[in-house]
Amino acid sequence: MGIALTKEQTNRVEELLSKMTLTEKIGQMNQESVSIVGGFDVPFEQLIEMMTDGRLSKEEFENIMKTAKTDYHEDAIREGKVGSLMVQDPEKCNELQKIAVEETRLGIPLIFGLDVIHGFRSVYPIAIAEAGSFDTELMEKTAAMAAKESRCSGVAWHFAPMLDVARDARWGRVSEGPGEDPYLGSCFARAKVRGLQNDHSENENYVAACLKHFVGYGAAEAGKDYNTVSMANHILYNNYLVPFRAAVEEGAQTAMASFNDLNGVPSTVNKWALRDILKDNMGLPGFVVSDANAIKECVVHGIAEDEKDAGEKSANAGLDMDMGTEIYIQNLEKSVEEGKVSMDAIDDACRRVLSVKMWLGLFDHPYVSEEVMKRYEEIPEEHKELALASAEKSAVLLKNEGGILPLKKDTKISLVGSLADNRSEVVGAWAISWKEKDCVSILDGMKQEFSNVNYYPCGGPEGDLNENEIKDACNNGDVIVAVLGETVAMSGEASSRADITLPGKQRELLQKLIASGKPVVLVLMNGRPLALQWEAENVTAILEGWHLGIQMGNAIAHILSGKKNPEGRLSSSFPAVTGQCPIYYNHPNTGRPAGNFKFTSRYLDAPFTALYPFGYGLSYTSFEYSDLAVTEDNDALKISVKVKNTGDREGTETVQFYMQDVAASIVRPVKELKCFEKATLASGEEKTVEVKLLKKHMGFWNNQGKYCLEDGLFRIYAGADSATELCEEIRVGFESVEKEPDYPVE
Ligand code: BGC
Repeated sequence: MGIALTKEQTNRVEELLSKMTLTEKIGQMNQESVSIVGGFDVPFEQLIEMMTDGRLSKEEFENIMKTAKTDYHEDAIREGKVGSLMVQDPEKCNELQKIAVEETRLGIPLIFGLDVIHGFRSVYPIAIAEAGSFDTELMEKTAAMAAKESRCSGVAWHFAPMLDVARDARWGRVSEGPGEDPYLGSCFARAKVRGLQNDHSENENYVAACLKHFVGYGAAEAGKDYNTVSMANHILYNNYLVPFRAAVEEGAQTAMASFNDLNGVPSTVNKWALRDILKDNMGLPGFVVSDANAIKECVVHGIAEDEKDAGEKSANAGLDMDMGTEIYIQNLEKSVEEGKVSMDAIDDACRRVLSVKMWLGLFDHPYVSEEVMKRYEEIPEEHKELALASAEKSAVLLKNEGGILPLKKDTKISLVGSLADNRSEVVGAWAISWKEKDCVSILDGMKQEFSNVNYYPCGGPEGDLNENEIKDACNNGDVIVAVLGETVAMSGEASSRADITLPGKQRELLQKLIASGKPVVLVLMNGRPLALQWEAENVTAILEGWHLGIQMGNAIAHILSGKKNPEGRLSSSFPAVTGQCPIYYNHPNTGRPAGNFKFTSRYLDAPFTALYPFGYGLSYTSFEYSDLAVTEDNDALKISVKVKNTGDREGTETVQFYMQDVAASIVRPVKELKCFEKATLASGEEKTVEVKLLKKHMGFWNNQGKYCLEDGLFRIYAGADSATELCEEIRVGFESVEKEPDYPVE
């Protein structure tokens, strides 16, 4: 598909290209880092990282930006040596744009990019949470909201969506992506690309998506960030590439290469990944940018002798834009003269960058007008409502013993945990453009919703416990709501953890609270699945709140009071203990699948199933499944199942359909999610939910890159999560069914 340029726009790009010098072409391939000079000599991205991981507070960051002397590379822009920058201040964007448009020989506009991962000013839930809403319309709307807000600040290019399939919760970046499942990941990918790119009703409404990180980054060995990645082709094709293919089909304009090496070749210089697969096979229309400093890091990685060599290898691999190292602008001209990089490679890269700028309308509307700049000085009500809806739909009820939840509005609640009273903890990793005054903490939300809330911080993920506060909390409330988990800095980039139980003294805190004999409701704030075996056995209820964005406090309070019936599901399996990682539902079978018998695939000292599987999540009502039926219908399977609301209130169920290819030429997963549908049912209501599974989606890519549709027996499952056992078998033939394209093999 793709969103193509018009004939006239293509001609404009070609005409421009024909007038450009080699330096100007390479200039388009250069993204400069805004450096902070004078006292704080670090690149802008690093400052942003420090702010997002908590080393700098939001206020400190803003003060530095106000007072520091900043190098925006004005002279280099003037010489036509800069194609892009990371800036988010609209006045600054206009000022730099003016240099590019009015003072350079050809007047080519800059493209300003930024990490807008889950919202700009209006921050919505982190991706691992939002994916669990299973609500693609909502995912699209939140992306569109972020696009509108950022474009009004001059940012026309989001380094998002992050589409790394991630199966190891130790990896801190699981927070940024849609979880462990390639199909849910591809639904998320399509929704995000549509939301970011498709609203052309006004010039300022859309941005270019940047799919990241290509490729395999989520499989970092042992969940350690930046670590090496090794995998067989069939694992890559059938899992890690799936969301990317979907996003490119949906028209995504750009992509970012990942930091990791894949089977020995860092993505930055991986021609097979970037050129053969992403551009030629999938058909990415725009350009590929490196990850921050990654070209330079090829030297440390041990794949290039020096910076010039790293630049040549990257450019030849199809890496079109250098993020932040200046290696292209300093070396590529010489490399072309020496014949080490072809003019064709430079032209291709430059054409791709110009095309995206043309597609964004930057040649015709390079500036942000005064009026547009002011549009989101305050967050509009409808954005707040969307942030609230997405937060409410993303929280997951994991346990609710004896139906303790929902709580009555006048319940005497002891609210515990330092995270509850922290407005900056609700936004999660990679939130940049938010303002503290927009954020609703859990304490704020609870006070609004309940009439009798007393707050006792007691302790949190870091530091000591306060015994007096614990005593007061235990003595004064009828129910204890403990808000525990991870700080924002404990997930996201460079935030892997070797032990994913509740950090610090929080288990001890829970033990003390439980000893009071009062019911303890655990509300979690965290950026990854946690190992909660002990908590699951000992607390009365668990609500997984992730980092839900600016409206988190209201969303949690609404769920605890029952104003909102929870409907979120897990987009990633929760292990019982850390040692089970990586754990994911769609694993290939062994000849000795795990069971209660010694010679099976399991640990001696841990359960063999997830504590809470992919797709899991409770409601305040209950649902019953029956009458699963599967029939062939030309090029599809028609699958239907009856779902009944057997509880006493309305609720929304995410009805999930899985498939197993029982015997194939390579071992296939025990289950694969193939379709889902949300159904809202009144108490006692029954509905038949029907979906179509296209036969062409029942195949797989083998190690030789061939898409295989093999006749044989299939099991179709339906249910409330990936552990469902409701199953029907069907024999399927694929004669004359259209196939997915094959992949090139390295
Ligand atoms: C991250 C990317 C991000 C880039 C620019 C890198 O460290 O890996 O996800 O887009 O920085 O901020």
